[in-house]
Amino acid sequence: MIAEKYAEQIAKIRAKYPDKRSTVMPLLYIAQEEYGYVSDEGVAEVAALCELDPTQVRSIAGFYTMYSEKPKGKYWLQVCTDLPCALRGADEFHKQLKEYLGVQEGGTTADGLFTVEHVMCLAACDKAPMLQCNFHFVENLDMDKMKSFIDQWRAEAKANK
Ligand code: FES
Repeated sequence: MIAEKYAEQIAKIRAKYPDKRSTVMPLLYIAQEEYGYVSDEGVAEVAALCELDPTQVRSIAGFYTMYSEKPKGKYWLQVCTDLPCALRGADEFHKQLKEYLGVQEGGTTADGLFTVEHVMCLAACDKAPMLQCNFHFVENLDMDKMKSFIDQWRAEAKANK
């Protein structure tokens, strides 16, 4: 239960907002952190904490690309393919990345490490091709640089097993 496990963090969040309903988005981040995605259990817990209906919480989680409604790999790679990035080669980069990792759009590698999906503008249009990996921006990419990051993340995951 996130209410107990993250009690201190939740208290800090609540102190910043005028009412419990307003804490829904930061609490969804906590639920996503705990379960790896916004699970039904996470939605129910957030709804109870915010005194909202679970359907309302689910609709918020479904609207924003920073919340995932299905399990993801350890490294969640969200490539911006919106028009300004596409003009700088993001579409081709996104395609090559999926081919390199052997996944379809939204798919996760067999080892559970990488999920690749495209997203709309992340406000780094002049640094394309770019992606966010677990909400950290990685910019000015090409496949050579990307392969280095993938090797680095694989090594990191192996070291942390
Ligand atoms: S269009 Fe890709 S970051 Fe803005």
